[in-house]
Formats: sequence, structure tokens, C-alpha cells
Amino acid sequence: MELSNYHTFGFRNHAARVIQLQQLEQLPVVSEGPLYILGEGSNSIFVEDFAGTVLKVSLKGIEISETDDLFRIRVAAGENWHDLVTMLMTKGIYGAENLALIPGTLGAAPIQNIGAYGRELAEFCTLVETVNLTTGVVSCFTATECQFGYRDSLFKRAEMASELITYVHMDFPKHWIPQCSYGELQALGSTPTAQQIFDKVVEVRRAKLPDPGKIGNAGSFFKNPVIQRRHFLSLQHEWKDIPCYPVDEEHVKVPAAWLIDRLGFKGKTIGGVACHLSQPLVLVNQAEGTGDELLQLARNIKQSVKKEFSIDLENEVRLIGKQGQICL
Ligand code: FAD
Ligand code: EPU
Repeated sequence: MELSNYHTFGFRNHAARVIQLQQLEQLPVVSEGPLYILGEGSNSIFVEDFAGTVLKVSLKGIEISETDDLFRIRVAAGENWHDLVTMLMTKGIYGAENLALIPGTLGAAPIQNIGAYGRELAEFCTLVETVNLTTGVVSCFTATECQFGYRDSLFKRAEMASELITYVHMDFPKHWIPQCSYGELQALGSTPTAQQIFDKVVEVRRAKLPDPGKIGNAGSFFKNPVIQRRHFLSLQHEWKDIPCYPVDEEHVKVPAAWLIDRLGFKGKTIGGVACHLSQPLVLVNQAEGTGDELLQLARNIKQSVKKEFSIDLENEVRLIGKQGQICL
């Protein structure tokens, strides 16, 4: 089966099999070859033909209840994240507006603890339901058990590979507090409405990020690296304008886009893939590129950043080769 419509990078690689999971009762027994659980493929890039089964999660359903203080939401893994955020806005349920327009499914959202514009899923996710595809055991993980971090969670660990997320629970306090401290949102002042935040986030994202419907991409290709403060101070001697965001007393986060930009990668192409002109952290498939070309460009960037800044970039996207996930 050709996969270009199954992942937003759009490479025309194939999988031996694709199974759509629409109801939990239809959970397949996959005994042959590797398995890859897929939502909408906006963080997964098939860089080669995949020799196994792609299990595309299309489970649907949204339940909303309330207490005196909270709206409680339970959503099936195959629901679209942005559609949910939009629906919550129309119902006057606020809190997820900063995360508008993030592509992908609910089931994938806890995997890397999606985040943007000063908020992340961890702030309102209370419980994640799973079923183990090997044993059939159903489990629930509390937010603490999920070990959410920056683009990280328990579900990224190798031992969780057979755990299929089925439902995500979220609580949104009725007493809503705006979060508008991130960059462009500051222009909204200190008392914006949730709708104003939603609209601004959509506007900024549309201006900055390439639309995967028009040009293949998977959002940020690398994570923003977290480095020791003293490493940062030594870099500042040479690179006076290097930006950073505080993490804790010992660490800062450096925007990978700045490092890549400074090394002149903006607009660089290898075959059909390129480093995007307005957001260099995003690599794009602009002209029927291949997985090899992408890996070559990404490795060039990673090696140059290591050489110039002594920083190890870690990919944020999943790269899937013949037998499953591969490293850069
Ligand atoms: P997929 O790519 O299908 O899967 C991602 C991972 O989750 C894979 O490891 C997959 O095996 C696993 N997975 C998927 N569903 C399940 C399930 N039900 N159970 C178990 N494992 C599962 N991310 C951000 O955090 N912030 C952003 O601002 C942001 N902006 C983006 C902008 C663009 C233009 C694009 C293309 C991507 C962006 N992303 C961003 C990345 C992406 O939107 C998120 O990672 C999203 O959660 C991926 O959802 P998906 O369904 O497409 O995941
Ligand atoms: N920058 C440059 N040159 C550029 C663009 C940016 O130097 O051409 C530098 C600037 O210093 C800028 C900084 O990079 O201030 C940060 O840029 P931006 O605000 O666009 O955010 P980002 O760090 O590139 C992160 C997330 C995005 C998320 C935005 C908004 C990661 C890996 N990426 O991007 O998430 O939407 O912040 O919160 O953390 C994704 O995960 O796919 C994704 C798009």
C-alpha cells in the first residue's frame, strides 16, 4: 500500500499492510513483521518502504461532562486535535486555545505531550487509556504516571511500543485563565478572550509554518536542545546574539531554528527536500523528494550544529525505515 496520503511528509514509500482500526472490538492480531501505530502521520516520516503493518487508528467519540468547577472530556484516539479544540471553543470550554491548529490525532497528543505558544497537553490531561496489542491488557495511566516532559512522555519508551492509546481524558477548569506570555501573543495584552488567543495562534501559525496540505512537512524536525548554562555562556562569547529560554538554574533551551539559520541552511536543498525559508527548523518535501535525500540533509544539519556549537540535535519527528523507527 502506498503511504503518501498516510503521512504529511508525503514520500511515496509503501507498507506491506495497512489496517484501519475503527472499533476497539476489531483489534487485530498482528503476528507477522513489525508494527507501526499511526494517527494522521504528522510526526511520522516513512523514509523507506516499511516491511510491516501500519495500524491506522480511527477510533471516534467525544464525551463531555461537568462538575461545579470543571469540564471533563474523554476523547477517542482517532479524533482530530484541532477539530476538538474548535468544538470546545464553540461550547465555551477554554484552555486548549493556545494549541490550535496542531495537526494530528488525540491518540498521538500524549506521546510527545504536544505543546505550543506557552501551553502543553500535560496541563489538562488527567488520564490516558491504553490496550496492549500483544497481551490485550487494558490499562489507565494518570498524568503523573505519563511522565510528561518537553516533547516527551512515558509512551516514548521502548517498553511501551505495544501500548495503543485508546482514549485521552482532559479537565478544563471553568475558571479560565489566559496564557499569553509567548512571543506574538503578548500583543494581545493581559486580558484577552480565549477566542482572541485562538485567532492569534491560528494567524501566527499560518504565517510561519508551511501547510502540510500544500507542501509536505512534519512540523519541527528537531527538538529545541536543552544545554548547560555554562555551555551557553561559552557560546555567547562567540555568538553574542544567541537566544535562550530559561529551563532551571542549571539549564537553558536554545532555539534550534536559530542555530540552523545561523549556519546558513535556510533554503538549502538536497534533491526534492529543503530546509524551509521562513522556519528553518522545518524540513519540507517540496519536489517529490526521497527518504535518502531527507536523511542526508538532516544529517548535514546535525553534524554542522555539533561542529560549530557542540550541541547534539535530537530529532523530534519519527523516522520509519524498513523494520521500524530509525535514528539519524
Ligand atoms: P503520528 O505521526 O501518526 O504518530 C506520532 C507518534 O505517535 C508515533 O510514534 C505513533 O506510533 C504514535 N501514535 C499515534 N497514535 C497512537 C495511538 N493511538 N496509540 C499509541 N501511539 C500512537 N507538535 C507539537 O507538539 N506542537 C506544535 O506546535 C506542532 N506543530 C506542527 C505543525 C505542523 C505543520 C506539523 C506537520 C506537525 C506539528 N507538530 C506539532 C507535530 C504533530 O502535530 C504532533 O506530534 C501530533 O501529535 C502528531 O499526531 P499524529 O496523529 O499525526 O501522529
Ligand atoms: N528563529 C530564527 N530564524 C528563523 C526562525 C526562528 O533564528 O528563521 C529563532 C528565533 O530566535 C525565534 C526562535 O527561533 O525566536 C523560535 O522560533 P518559533 O517561535 O517559531 O518557535 P520554534 O522554537 O521554532 C517551537 C515548537 C513548535 C511550536 C512553536 C510555538 C519545538 C521543537 N518546536 O518552535 O512546535 O509550534 O515553538 O510554541 O519545540 C512542532 O513541534 O512540530 C512545532 C511546530
